[in-house]
Amino acid sequence: MAIKRSEILRGLADKHDANKLNHMCSHYTDVYEHWFKERREDNIRLFEIGVGTSAGSLKMWQEYFPKGQVFSIDTQDKEHLSTDRIIIRRGSQADSEFLDKFIEETGAKWDYIIDDGSHKMSHHISSFEHLWTHLQPGGIYIIEDMHTCYWPHDGGGYGTPASSITYFRNLSDTVNWFYWKKQNPCHEDWDWSQPFVRDDNITEFDRTIESVTFFKGMCLIFKKEKWTQLF
Ligand SMILES: C[S@@+](CC[C@H](N)C(=O)[O-])C[C@H]1O[C@@H](n2cnc3c(N)ncnc32)[C@H](O)[C@@H]1O
Repeated sequence: MAIKRSEILRGLADKHDANKLNHMCSHYTDVYEHWFKERREDNIRLFEIGVGTSAGSLKMWQEYFPKGQVFSIDTQDKEHLSTDRIIIRRGSQADSEFLDKFIEETGAKWDYIIDDGSHKMSHHISSFEHLWTHLQPGGIYIIEDMHTCYWPHDGGGYGTPASSITYFRNLSDTVNWFYWKKQNPCHEDWDWSQPFVRDDNITEFDRTIESVTFFKGMCLIFKKEKWTQLF
C-alpha cells in the first residue's frame, strides 16, 4: 500500500518541534503513521536514540500514543526533559555496558526502536545488533537519516562495504534463510536433513527478521511474530 500523507503525526511534529519535518525527512511522519496508527491506543513501549535540543520527537510520541511509554538516551545531559511517560538517560548508543544498564533499568521489551542518534555507520550496526533481541515480536526497528551512509565523514560512501546501508541490504538474505540449501525445498523428495549452505548455524537473529524496507533516508526492519519464527 502506498504511503499517504500523515494526518496526525505531521501536526504533532510541528507542534513539538520534532526534527522530522525538514526537507530531507519531511516524509518520515508519513512512514511512521502508516505503520504505527493501528496500535495508537495500545500500551506501546517506544525507544528513540537521540533526544535532540528539546525532546521534540519524544513529546510527539508521548502525545501520539496516549497510553505509551517513551524511552531515550543521549550523549548530552537531557535527563531533565524526562516526564512521567518519557524516560531519558545520558550515555552513548556505542557503549554496550551503558546499553545493558539501560536495558536492565527499563525492562526493555520495546515495540518500536528508532535510531536517530550519531548516524555513524558503526553505531547503526552495533546498536541494531545489541538491541534487536530486546524488540518485541511483531516490533519494528527503524534507522533514520541514512543519507549519511553515502558520506565518508560518517564512515559511509557510495558502494562502500562498511556503509550500514550495505549491512542492512544484506539482511535481505537473512529474510530468506529457510532456502539456504542446495536443493529446491519445493520438491516432493526434498531431504529435510540437508545442511544449510552457510557454515555456521542459523541463529535466533536470522529466524526473527521478517522483512527489511527502505525509504529515502530510512530503513525499517520488521520482527516476526512468535508463530512465524520457525520458518
Ligand atoms: C538529530 S538529533 C535527535 C533529534 C530527535 N530525535 C528529533 O527527532 O527531534 C540527534 C541526537 O543524538 C545525540 N547523539 C549523538 N551521538 C550519540 C550517541 N553516540 N549516542 C546517543 N545519542 C547521540 C545528539 O546529542 C543529538 O541530541
